[in-house]
Amino acid sequence: MNFYLAPMEGITTHIYRNALQRHYGGIDCYYTPFLSNKSFNSKELRDILPEHNKGFKVVPQILTNQPETFLAIAEKLQDYGYREVNLNLGCPSGTVTAKKRGAGFLSVPDQLDRFLDRIFAGCPLDISIKTRIGIEAEYEWADLLAIYKKYPIKELTVHPRYQKEFYHGTPHVEAFQLAIDTLKGSSIALCYNGDITSAESFHALLGKAPSTEAVMVGRGALANPEIFQLLRREEPAQSPKEASSLSPREKLSSFQAFHDEILMGYMGYMPGDQPTLFKMKELWGYMGQYVHAADSQLKQIRKAKRISEYKIAVQGILAQAPGRATP
Ligand SMILES: Cc1cc2nc3c(=O)[nH]c(=O)nc-3n(C[C@H](O)[C@H](O)[C@H](O)COP(=O)(O)O)c2cc1C
Repeated sequence: MNFYLAPMEGITTHIYRNALQRHYGGIDCYYTPFLSNKSFNSKELRDILPEHNKGFKVVPQILTNQPETFLAIAEKLQDYGYREVNLNLGCPSGTVTAKKRGAGFLSVPDQLDRFLDRIFAGCPLDISIKTRIGIEAEYEWADLLAIYKKYPIKELTVHPRYQKEFYHGTPHVEAFQLAIDTLKGSSIALCYNGDITSAESFHALLGKAPSTEAVMVGRGALANPEIFQLLRREEPAQSPKEASSLSPREKLSSFQAFHDEILMGYMGYMPGDQPTLFKMKELWGYMGQYVHAADSQLKQIRKAKRISEYKIAVQGILAQAPGRATP
């Protein structure tokens, strides 16, 4: 079984990836948030520079519907030493889909087919794809799979929701199983993505799609950075007490080191307090529960206007978390 960290725009940056790898690990591949222009801005460049991604596998993601743009970005990434790029056919946001990009590209399968034909003919790198199962109707998925089957896709990651569902409802695991059945015998590897948040949800997936060979985790990893270690265990956790492989004290000290590395990483290059605070507040929207933060404590984080206030709010949470060092 392979485990991947999902790309999450603005969150799974190289700062986050390095901290996650150092303090938790268990991840076979990290996908970057998408690039959509052939000239990289300084933020994008910083994110993909090999010296910022040492010691773990990274696959940069591309979001475009223009073959020339895709090929130009891939060529630049090749110059930085990358061997694989990932095509985003999953982004459901209105601004992206209105231009027939991301999941919006799935609404014009003939154009998508021609695009794939061009990029697979011209790309010097391996191409993997991350896809939704269509815009809104069940028949779309079989047609899309018939298109995908024609190309030497390195790996197809399926987030089995329709574009119109955004992140709502339950993933359609049966659509992932249809992909397994349809692509059997082809060279295309498959990866499941969507709502894996615990060993229980992972084992429920394996119950429904037992031949799953790779899983990509997004929000579940933000909420619990230890999740990959938990998923790698043979048996699902039996009780909440077993839902961590670390003692409460180890759990807290790993989290503190992880948190501090991210904070210092952003402070190291972002001007003033505000951009760093924005990043940290977004993260706390997911990870509060991991250290049992109360709503009132998370509110203090959201209210912080300076890093100094933010640090006091974080100290307040960690001082009350299980496993805190006794004075
Ligand atoms: C804040 C946020 C940003 C995201 N950015 C990207 C992105 O840049 N590229 C992409 O393919 N998917 C992106 N996604 C989708 C995730 O990669 C993933 O497919 C989705 O969250 C479902 O997986 P999960 O339930 O494990 O989170 C994003 C999701 C969130 C919540």
